[in-house]
Amino acid sequence: MSSEFHTLRIAEVVKEGENAISILFDMPNHLQDSFAFQPGQHLTMRTEIDGEELRRNYSLCAAPHERQWKVAIKRLPGGRFSGWANEHLESDDSIDVMPPTGSFTWKFDPGRTASYAFFASGSGITPILSLLKTGLVTEPDSRFALFYGNKDSDSILFLEVIADLKDRYLDRLKIQHFFSREEDELQILNGRIDDAKMKEVIANFLIPEELTSVFICGPEGMMDAVEKAFTTTGIPADRIHSERFTAKELSEEQKAEMAKLEQQAAGKTIKLTIDGRRRTIEFDPVKVSILENARASGVRAPFSCKAGVCATCRAKVVKGKVEMIRNFGLTPLEIADGYVLTCQSVPVSDDVEVDFDL
Ligand code: FES
Repeated sequence: MSSEFHTLRIAEVVKEGENAISILFDMPNHLQDSFAFQPGQHLTMRTEIDGEELRRNYSLCAAPHERQWKVAIKRLPGGRFSGWANEHLESDDSIDVMPPTGSFTWKFDPGRTASYAFFASGSGITPILSLLKTGLVTEPDSRFALFYGNKDSDSILFLEVIADLKDRYLDRLKIQHFFSREEDELQILNGRIDDAKMKEVIANFLIPEELTSVFICGPEGMMDAVEKAFTTTGIPADRIHSERFTAKELSEEQKAEMAKLEQQAAGKTIKLTIDGRRRTIEFDPVKVSILENARASGVRAPFSCKAGVCATCRAKVVKGKVEMIRNFGLTPLEIADGYVLTCQSVPVSDDVEVDFDL
């Protein structure tokens, strides 16, 4: 993956729902290959506010076949980047954007007959929409169900796009909207997607054992409830795919373990490869992770959240041993292939080589 930011022109800014905007980027021909993406992936955007560099990830909400690079930014309470973007960004502005990354994706196969369930809440709809559109076009024999939670009908993001999909794929796509602050005649659709609601959803709308995969994106409480509900029904973990926007606080044990590992890693050498160049650094526990050590030595390793969520800092361990303290961004397959989140990792052997280009 390229760790470079590119300055992109914003072709269009559209108000979405009552508290969000969507941004369509103008992608020049010479950058289209670098910005090619899988459904469900996200972009890292960068700006400077009051002298401080801020980076945020936003999921692409279009499908790759649409050849559009579009994200939605929901204004969060106290959100510096999201508030700034909602207030200031206009068409013809420019902003720095890093090419797409992320493991919350799926390889749809035209020959497959499958059944998928998608759960989204609020702006969690963005990667879900990209996956859903791609699946509907790519797998004509598969069935899809979308469960989307919002405060009320005014808060629904991409209402028209979703309604259009429902009309177009009437026989293969079922959609249920849930509102936490609006009453629907159908009682089951009232309220948040939580543990109790998930029991009702599974009892009324789904046959869990027939599901090929479940995709979940939204706030932490909703994601925990959906994951728990399906795990309880016996669905294997590798069929449940989640994309988190925020990380849970490290537990006291995790903090203590991280501090111990950092101390033990002091002075260990790490060979880094990025953008085709190699560099050897010595691990300094004061600078915490492999990512922070790399950046402090002038290596332009990519990052965004620094919390183990976005996977922008992903790199492959090609030699030696590394310990990753927490992970919300890599799949079990990526971990088995040797990938780590460098913002959460420290070396535990002396001969570590980490490649950001693989
Ligand atoms: Fe986001 Fe490391 S920077 S997971």
